[in-house]
Amino acid sequence: MRDRDHDAPDQAQPDDDRGQSGAWWRSPDATGDERDATADERDATGDERRPRTDGGTDAGGGTDTDDGADGVTLDPWGSATVGDYENLFREFGIEDFRAVIDDVPAPHYLMRRRVIFGHRNYGPVARALANDEPAAALSGFMPTGDPHIGHKLVFDELIWHQKRGADTYGLIADLEAHAARGLSWDEIDEHARDYLLSLVALGFDPEAGELYRQSTNDRLQELAFELGGNARFSEFESIYGFDGETSVSHMQSVVTQMADILYPQLDEPKPTVIPVGPDQDPHVRLARDLAARMRYFKMTEAYASFAADAAELSLLDEAYAARETWADDPDRPRCTDAADWLADHDVDTELTGPRERVVEKLRNAGMEPLRPRVRLLDRNADPEAFDALIEAIDGEKRVFDAHVDTFELSRSEAADLAREVELDNGGYGFVAPSSLYHRFMTGLTGGKMSSSVPASHISLLDDPEDGYDKVKAATTGGRSTAEKQRELGGEPEECPVYELYAYLLSADDDEFAQRVYDECAGGERLCGGCKEQAAELMREFLEDHQEKREEAAKLLADLDIDLDVGASRRGVASDAD
Ligand code: TRP
Ligand code: SF4
Repeated sequence: MRDRDHDAPDQAQPDDDRGQSGAWWRSPDATGDERDATADERDATGDERRPRTDGGTDAGGGTDTDDGADGVTLDPWGSATVGDYENLFREFGIEDFRAVIDDVPAPHYLMRRRVIFGHRNYGPVARALANDEPAAALSGFMPTGDPHIGHKLVFDELIWHQKRGADTYGLIADLEAHAARGLSWDEIDEHARDYLLSLVALGFDPEAGELYRQSTNDRLQELAFELGGNARFSEFESIYGFDGETSVSHMQSVVTQMADILYPQLDEPKPTVIPVGPDQDPHVRLARDLAARMRYFKMTEAYASFAADAAELSLLDEAYAARETWADDPDRPRCTDAADWLADHDVDTELTGPRERVVEKLRNAGMEPLRPRVRLLDRNADPEAFDALIEAIDGEKRVFDAHVDTFELSRSEAADLAREVELDNGGYGFVAPSSLYHRFMTGLTGGKMSSSVPASHISLLDDPEDGYDKVKAATTGGRSTAEKQRELGGEPEECPVYELYAYLLSADDDEFAQRVYDECAGGERLCGGCKEQAAELMREFLEDHQEKREEAAKLLADLDIDLDVGASRRGVASDAD
């Protein structure tokens, strides 16, 4: 079935054989069918060795409660674990990142290694980057603790997009931290500063991009208020499980996040990516919905005066394409003749319902000519804006009460025109935001990486020696004895230390990450030496990062960002659920 909504996700399926990029995490001695990556991923029980970098499986006996067998709860304020990433594709319609990686210019190592595993409609962003067209990237951080190596994934994603020319935004979700987590403003100030310092130290250019905190951004709050006009409590109930006990501030933090996500488009609509963990997907879906709901005009296709859904349209496409065979005059095919043809035409079983409906619509339309057209429906426009749209359409058009049919514009011409008229008449013209999803890192002690369990993560502020010690003390995927390890090989795909190599310590060096994997799986690498090497690399990384944080402090001091709201705000911690 064809995709009819111009802002809808690319439905492309991943290539079976992606060759070089995307294949590196597979050991060369893999016995599975290299050509069917998706099937391999589903069957994690086969013999083949493959770094399954899905951190957060409950292998380590984590304390999570909402991680059922499938682990498919996506709760922005719950526990951030996912048991089965493939399920996210099936259950929530998150798309496989492999479907778009070929459009990405020089993909980041997190993309190549499938740490970034999923997306929603990333295609337009990738293409904009490749063609030097406007694009934006934004993500936000709740300042509830120290920034740690899990946050670094998102920092790196933002920086990568910024280096490729996207307008890039990093924000401190202080309203959310206060409303949903009950942090005091003084605590928030301190953590906010730490997130910003690390982001800048890792390479974010605060002059080219924008850093802000929610609570002091007036334009953001105005936008949040406008979006709130289109959001309903009933959807907060169904999306987030909010109920009569949820604080109003918590709800306000949700509309604020919706505004964050659309904020990069305030000056100009453009493809925008939100890199986040999959727990944020409910927010992304709501933001995509709201972006569409705010639009003045909705675009569809039609063949006659009646409306048709996507399945019906696909049948009309077929009938129209075959008109030479059934129309008395193929230049003026009639609806009634199309109905006769379709009624006799074989279709797949799932299309028999749509066929019945469309045949009836065609019969009702009778002698009306069947003619393809792009239809623009008035959804949110005031009468002047709708008149302006009608006026702006070139060529043949037909005007109805609440829609106008255009006969000479392509879909993309019509979409551009509708957006232009909307912008000229006071609308936002939002492009539905896209997203990228990364895997969660496994905690160093097994189970999930948690900000509240210091031994489970490495904070970007940890003393380098402590970082070293934490790696040395980490759980591994090694065997019980060195002999067994030599004989059977280790299990890098079960190993938090291997994850450190793949997600961070190898940086851009794929060959090094692959070597660690192969040596481990092949029994040539033993955990003692492997951890020593990782621990030293971690110490170096922290030393270097913390030096850069000091330099970043100077940059940050010059920025117009208030890191002392605690002095003026007297908050009440409200909804620490
Ligand atoms: N809710 C996010 C979190 O819990 C933080 C956040 C706020 C955010 N606004 C955002 C993330 C906009 C991405 C985009 O971490
Ligand atoms: Fe993990 Fe390294 Fe041991 Fe392999 S050798 S299980 S990668 S610590």
